Amino acid sequence: MKKETIRIIDELKQKNEELQKENEMLKAIIDSIHESVYAVNEKDEVILYNSESEKMEGLNRQDLLGKKEDEVFAPPYYFSDEIIKKILRTGKPLIEQPYWYYLNDGRKTNMIYSAFPFYYKGQVAAVYVIFRNMSQMSDFIAITLEMQKKFSQQENSQPTGATFLLEDIKGNDTIKRITGEARKIARRNSPVLIVGETGTGKELFAQGIHNASLHSKGPFIPINCAAIPETLLESLLFGTVKGAFTGATESPGLFEQAGDGTIFLDEINSMSLPLQAKLLRILQGRTVRRLGSNVEIPLNCRIISATNMDPIETVEKKIMRSDLFFRLATVTLYIPPLRERKEDIRLLALHFIKKYNNEFGLFVKNVSEELIEHFEHYHWPGNARELENFIEGAMNFVHSEDRILKLHHLPEYFRERIFQVKNFQKSLNFKGTLQSVLQETEKAFIESILTKNNGNITRASYELGISRQNLHHKLKSLSIETNTIKKDY
Ligand SMILES: Nc1ncnc2c1ncn2[C@@H]1O[C@H](COP(=O)(O)OP(=O)(O)O)[C@@H](O)[C@H]1O
Ligand SMILES: [Mg+2]
Repeated sequence: MKKETIRIIDELKQKNEELQKENEMLKAIIDSIHESVYAVNEKDEVILYNSESEKMEGLNRQDLLGKKEDEVFAPPYYFSDEIIKKILRTGKPLIEQPYWYYLNDGRKTNMIYSAFPFYYKGQVAAVYVIFRNMSQMSDFIAITLEMQKKFSQQENSQPTGATFLLEDIKGNDTIKRITGEARKIARRNSPVLIVGETGTGKELFAQGIHNASLHSKGPFIPINCAAIPETLLESLLFGTVKGAFTGATESPGLFEQAGDGTIFLDEINSMSLPLQAKLLRILQGRTVRRLGSNVEIPLNCRIISATNMDPIETVEKKIMRSDLFFRLATVTLYIPPLRERKEDIRLLALHFIKKYNNEFGLFVKNVSEELIEHFEHYHWPGNARELENFIEGAMNFVHSEDRILKLHHLPEYFRERIFQVKNFQKSLNFKGTLQSVLQETEKAFIESILTKNNGNITRASYELGISRQNLHHKLKSLSIETNTIKKDY
């Protein structure tokens, strides 16, 4: 065999080994989750059946793998006939569908399932279904509601839960103007929508408004709509009565617990459209009903919501209902990203330095101009929160005799991030049309991969993820000179 062939075989062997390892690991992960997962291929044969499925159905996967539903189960074949066929036909997923069935031992189980097509090379090659057992889910809801209740009782001794005042929000003209507006609207009862990228201080403003408002004696209850599963969010917000669903207990929702305080609905843009409709009804009627109850409870709290997306865009893209948006956004506060408030960078840096001086027992007085300059060129995707993280990180490298925070104090990782952005911007100094820039980039990339592989077309095409023929075609169309690249075969 040629040396080259042996080398390719070795490489393939190694790749194969890696794939196998990855496959084993994914299987182990799928086996350790609490959802039951199964998948069938396009011939309807079971190709995946995880531990939780085995446990739930009391079956052994060895008896199922490679078989069709009708070889293992008695009719009706709900999943293969209704769900799998539908997904194979439409190529679209079915999300969060309720479902119940009788297990082999006769027990009835309530489930929520989502079924997804798996595309391979543009074709639906498999369908996988993920089931959540709702009896476990309702236990989870019950526990969470219980915890929430305990939490709110503790909160009552120190009533609000909002520690920030509007005065604590640091910034120059823009921030001063916004805090001024916030102070005015705090006195009224209208809903407020706070718009701003992540880390711009939305929650700070929500707390500040609460503390400056007539609701300040009541609790401040923040809830992140993106962090909580849909079904749980609904029962958390509205509360439940005993028997509303399996495991449901008599629990007040957050609207009720907020009393005449403030409820802060963070990342409202993540709320599903049906729940948005329910929320709208509550805001209009100003009463809440616990899930499973007909009793109307008056709603007295102030509602502040926040979104990190452009609200007009969320309405246009049908992520937010326009009627809910108009209702929530009676007053809108827009907090611009930090990169558009460069004048605040120094001020905030010094503010956070002071905070960590106190925390770490340090005596830093200032920031070096070099560091400020780097900060001013950085785009701050995480805004003030990211700046705070940078400063906290840097303060870990400060010695007790240091008085000035400098570039070298920043952890390696942050320094890299700042420089990466600079280099990227430099590399963006292209001229010409999009087409010509893309072509130049493609050419440069292919050349570099060819050079790396000593001009070996097979290996280069493999690394580029395209076929040999396609690479040959590109060499010609992009006029790449291959004879200048060293060949070893
Ligand atoms: N103007 C500001 N003044 C002081 N601290 C700020 C300011 N903006 C943001 N922060 C800090 O950044 C962190 C993130 O703010 P937060 O209100 O949670 O942002 P968001 O809710 O928009 O993601 C806060 O904990 C606070 O310490
Ligand atoms: Mg937030």
